[in-house]
Amino acid sequence: MAYETLIVEVENHVALIRLNRPDALNALNTQLLGELADALKSTEENDKVRCVVITGSEKAFAAGADIKEMAEKTFVEVFMSNLFGRETEQFLKCRKPIIAAVSGYALGGGCELAMMCDFIIASDTAKFGQPEINLGVVAGIGGSQRLTRFVGKSKAMDMNLTGRFMDAKEAERSGLVSRVVPAKKLLEEALSAAQKIAEKSMLTTAVVKEAVNRSYETTLSEGLLFERRLFHSLFASEDQKEGMAAFLEKREPQFRDK
Ligand code: HXC
Repeated sequence: MAYETLIVEVENHVALIRLNRPDALNALNTQLLGELADALKSTEENDKVRCVVITGSEKAFAAGADIKEMAEKTFVEVFMSNLFGRETEQFLKCRKPIIAAVSGYALGGGCELAMMCDFIIASDTAKFGQPEINLGVVAGIGGSQRLTRFVGKSKAMDMNLTGRFMDAKEAERSGLVSRVVPAKKLLEEALSAAQKIAEKSMLTTAVVKEAVNRSYETTLSEGLLFERRLFHSLFASEDQKEGMAAFLEKREPQFRDK
């Protein structure tokens, strides 16, 4: 499907979704978020896709929600249209792993979009921030909630109250991103990670997502029980038999997502 604000390519079981509003540093307007939700739904339904990478340009992953589009809206309009709530629901429904490959600015909604992905690989030029405070608003899709869980209260308060940007090194040190790579290698690294994931059993990758995501929603003892039950349940799968047999037979596993 052709989009105006995205470029989507599928190769070797990986869907690469590029945000593509270069004139506005990929600012997230209704059209882009709608197209992104649609693209994610399509990748979810496409059996050829086993992992997704979302990226922007070298200068900007996304510089936030589109300020021009939002500026004149009223409370009733944003509340009644559930602004950004509706558009971001598709992320939560995705069972396939999603990697954010971030270069340049990931600000406001851009930082939050990256945090909605399963993990973030950053280029050494990446800059993360929640500068909504400078616009007289607060983060709207996770900048006060996910960011706090990822980097802790002190840094989340600092970022949200001062609006300062965090560079890639600090983001890695703080646990916001999983790894930092040279800008020129960003896509190569992200696609190679996606490729590795695409080779696993999709049954197991979906279970891993459920397990890790549950840790944000529950107590440690409930989470550990949930994890153990998931672990037990995978013994009902053919892929568990295949994975363990392949190890013992010193060969590569042939997973069949069963
Ligand atoms: C609309 C934006 C934009 C945005 C940049 N542009 N960010 N348009 N919404 N969020 C546009 C500029 O208006 C400009 O268009 C063009 O992109 C290039 O931007 P410049 O500012 O000229 O580039 P530069 O000087 O390099 O500065 C880059 C920047 C700056 C530091 C990223 O653009 C910036 O501060 N942007 C806003 C960042 C921000 O406040 N984000 C939070 C948004 S609120 P023209 O037409 O003038 O050339 C938010 C709420 C989240 O995200 C709620 C839930 C989603």
